[in-house]
Amino acid sequence: MNISELETPALIVDLDIMERNLRRVADYAASHGLRLRPHTKTHKIPALGRRQLDLGAAGLTVAKVSEAEVMLAAEPQDLLVAYPVTGEGKLKRLLEVARKTRVTVALDSESAVLQLSEAASAAAVDLGVLAEVDAGFGRVGVSPGPELTALIRTIQRQPRLRYEGIAFYPGHIRNLDGADDEEFMRIGEQLRAMLDELRREGLAPNIVSGGSTPSLFHSHELEGLNEIRPGTYVFNTSTRCFPRLASWRTARRQCSSRSSRPPGPAR
Ligand SMILES: Cc1ncc(COP(=O)(O)O)c(C=O)c1O
Repeated sequence: MNISELETPALIVDLDIMERNLRRVADYAASHGLRLRPHTKTHKIPALGRRQLDLGAAGLTVAKVSEAEVMLAAEPQDLLVAYPVTGEGKLKRLLEVARKTRVTVALDSESAVLQLSEAASAAAVDLGVLAEVDAGFGRVGVSPGPELTALIRTIQRQPRLRYEGIAFYPGHIRNLDGADDEEFMRIGEQLRAMLDELRREGLAPNIVSGGSTPSLFHSHELEGLNEIRPGTYVFNTSTRCFPRLASWRTARRQCSSRSSRPPGPAR
């Protein structure tokens, strides 16, 4: 097929580049003993989720219940919903997903814990929980210290909830080997201190989940981190083509046709 025959707008993915991106990250995670639970929000395609699992991912991450429902088609042995799920309707749907595969939810409030606990008890289904910590991005997450320990203790008190560990998302780190180096080091120190404190309190996490695409290849430098959840790396879209990843190629392109042109010189 010639490119001019495409109905536009069309999304074009270079499968060879995408496969290289997938393999590169799977190899990196394996070589550093990091669990890979890639975020599927970038592609939302079960066949791609399946490919990530076949290349060694331990599970898949989604942002919301509807994505979890779709990703069941990838037959993951494990699904992380990386955002608090609240409200009767969504919780009911989440528990339906949890009847089909192992589900873990990341959350950051007592209210979210209690709602999840009530729904899990009503459905007689067990769920894993990660306590979400703010690593400086300021979007979700409790502060390390008393807020975090209180949240974990609340999770531990719930009969159908399993405290699995902590999660954070360093979404403000965009340029390593550049402007964000200092902040990345601060996150490393914060993580070390937080894990020391949790161990002292008898709340040591099994899972310490972080890792975005821009910070990807520095993940092993964060002491104690044992899981990464990059998402954008699959296509490495040009809007988020990070300087540190300059050796990557973008697998996705948009193709559009010009159907009208304003009069006058070309703009
Ligand atoms: C909680 C969470 N984890 C992981 C990711 C994936 O990060 P990235 O888009 O940098 O690959 C995202 C993206 O928004 C996220 O919100």
